[in-house]
Amino acid sequence: MRTKLDKKSGFSYAGAIIFFVVIALVIQTALVVYEYIRERTDDLGLVALLMLGIIIILSGLCTVADVIRRKIMVDRPVAKILSVTEKIACGDFSARVYIEHTYDKYDEFDLIAEDLNYMAEALRKSEVLKSDFISNVSHELKTPLAVIESYTKKLSDKKLDEESRIKYIETIRSATSKLSKLVTNILLLNKLENQHLRPEIKRVDLCGVLSDSVLVFESLIEERGLTLECDIDTLYISSSPDYLEIVFNNLISNAIKFTEPGGQVTVKLYPFGDGAAIEISDTGCGIPEEVGMHIFDKFYQGDTSHSSEGNGLGLAMVKKVIDILGGEIKVESETGVGSKFTIILRG
Ligand SMILES: Nc1ncnc2c1ncn2[C@@H]1O[C@H](COP(=O)(O)OP(=O)(O)OP(=O)(O)O)[C@@H](O)[C@H]1O
Ligand SMILES: [Mg+2]
Repeated sequence: MRTKLDKKSGFSYAGAIIFFVVIALVIQTALVVYEYIRERTDDLGLVALLMLGIIIILSGLCTVADVIRRKIMVDRPVAKILSVTEKIACGDFSARVYIEHTYDKYDEFDLIAEDLNYMAEALRKSEVLKSDFISNVSHELKTPLAVIESYTKKLSDKKLDEESRIKYIETIRSATSKLSKLVTNILLLNKLENQHLRPEIKRVDLCGVLSDSVLVFESLIEERGLTLECDIDTLYISSSPDYLEIVFNNLISNAIKFTEPGGQVTVKLYPFGDGAAIEISDTGCGIPEEVGMHIFDKFYQGDTSHSSEGNGLGLAMVKKVIDILGGEIKVESETGVGSKFTIILRG
């Protein structure tokens, strides 16, 4: 594997050539001086002594030159890099090494500095993601917890009538189930992101998996006063039924949630290339363009008042699963007309 260092190795050759020229000059100077002394005296002891002195002076000059070179070319960049690594180690991920050279004149220290800056940026981004995640989770936990707290207080009133008691218990149950769904989704998404779960790929009867998902929502569709249209071919592909179930359930549940009574939810499955295409569409509120840009982000909900159910994790999971399965997801939507999610899966 060629590394960045290989590409920049021209600079090391330059260093080697300078070193070679200096040594050649030192030897040449010593030879010239030797000839000069030999022409003027035959006393070998004196010649040896003078040569020793000359060699000591030349070595001393070279050593001083090397110390200065090291100070400028090694110690200075190392000190700069060390001060930044210390800052990063103490948690300051905004620290960066300033690179003085232009890219075509980069030396090995510039390459290290560039990688260090890259690593610091990655750490800064992951820190931002982590703190965003914590604040999102805390925010999502707060509402149902506040409901549970306030309704348990109300329940402790001894004069409470039976009808209110049943209503309060139902409110607490619904808040608990929201909490439980939130925790389940966070755990599932975390497993998917950290690849703790590996899909078990087998021959899948897509028609069967999709029909099962539709059946799960049949009574809810009826309850919401929606009509359901299905156009599902018999099709087999190599995939993971458990993963596909996550995708279908989330998309169908969204289609139902965002469609007003009287609307329609349509589910289609047909061959596409060597694989399959699945369309889940609705005649609901549609997705405005500015919302569409974020729908696959974790905890993003188009309705910022969070009046609709959920935590904004559904489509983030769908996207992750589709990526793992090597498929594609497309969204077409028009505000007030409806939305269509199309999934392309390979055979
Ligand atoms: N079929 C749809 N029609 C209109 N808007 C949609 C549709 N599907 C998704 N959206 C928009 O995308 C946002 C994100 O969807 P996602 O499924 O991730 O979250 P959610 O449904 O709000 O919550 P959760 O899935 O956690 O229950 C939704 O809040 C909504 O604004
Ligand atoms: Mg959803």
